[in-house]
Amino acid sequence: MRVLIVFAHAEPSSFNGALLRAGVAALLAAGHEVQVSDLYAMGFDPVSDRRNFVTVANPDRLGQQAEEAYASANNGFVPALQAEMDKLAWCDVLVFQFPIWWLGLPAILKGWVDRVFAVGRAYGGGRWFEGGFFAGKRAMCAVSLGGLEDVYSDSGVYAPIEDVLFPIHRGIFGFTGFSVIAPFAVYGPGRIDATAREAYLERYVERLLTLETAPLLEWK
Ligand SMILES: Cc1cc2nc3c(=O)[nH]c(=O)nc-3n(C[C@H](O)[C@H](O)[C@H](O)COP(=O)(O)O)c2cc1C
Repeated sequence: MRVLIVFAHAEPSSFNGALLRAGVAALLAAGHEVQVSDLYAMGFDPVSDRRNFVTVANPDRLGQQAEEAYASANNGFVPALQAEMDKLAWCDVLVFQFPIWWLGLPAILKGWVDRVFAVGRAYGGGRWFEGGFFAGKRAMCAVSLGGLEDVYSDSGVYAPIEDVLFPIHRGIFGFTGFSVIAPFAVYGPGRIDATAREAYLERYVERLLTLETAPLLEWK
């Protein structure tokens, strides 16, 4: 399978960095194709505005979605975005790997979505959900959290991780046609011992190697 991992952690020696290295090595060793968009290493610019385009539909007033539709029809995205769009089109499975920040995506990854998931390339023209551009592909979040699992439960101060990730699962992946794989979550990597961290690394490798068959989330 072809796997695109969009990675949003600035520190290579972090636990996220260790997860990424173990996962990529295992996928390649098993004969899969892997591309990694390491957003901090790339210096990815997360701000979405006219800098997305080399084309201009309306110079007087910026309508972001109208400019995106025009750029899609006229090959008008800047090369840095076109390259990410090409990776999306290439992959069978998309993985967002990131630490949860304020119960959501770090800004650099949110900005990647804002800019790369453009009208005419990821949605629009009646193409969404099951009829979306990415129908037939799978997507998964691989997250780390500062909190332990009890915090992310029905009796905790937050909600189960599937609920926390609903805007990403349904609003980003599902909306654009991806089938959504149950998330992989690492709770409190800085608060557990080396044995527990090693177990997480092994489970992550196992999950990445079974992305094509891992259980999917469903909505009514
Ligand atoms: C800006 C920021 C916001 C954070 N928000 C949350 C949060 O909402 N919930 C949580 O459990 N941890 C939160 N954390 C903690 C990180 O998720 C945690 O440190 C990270 O997942 C650990 O992974 P690492 O060792 O690879 O860095 C936040 C950290 C930062 C820097």
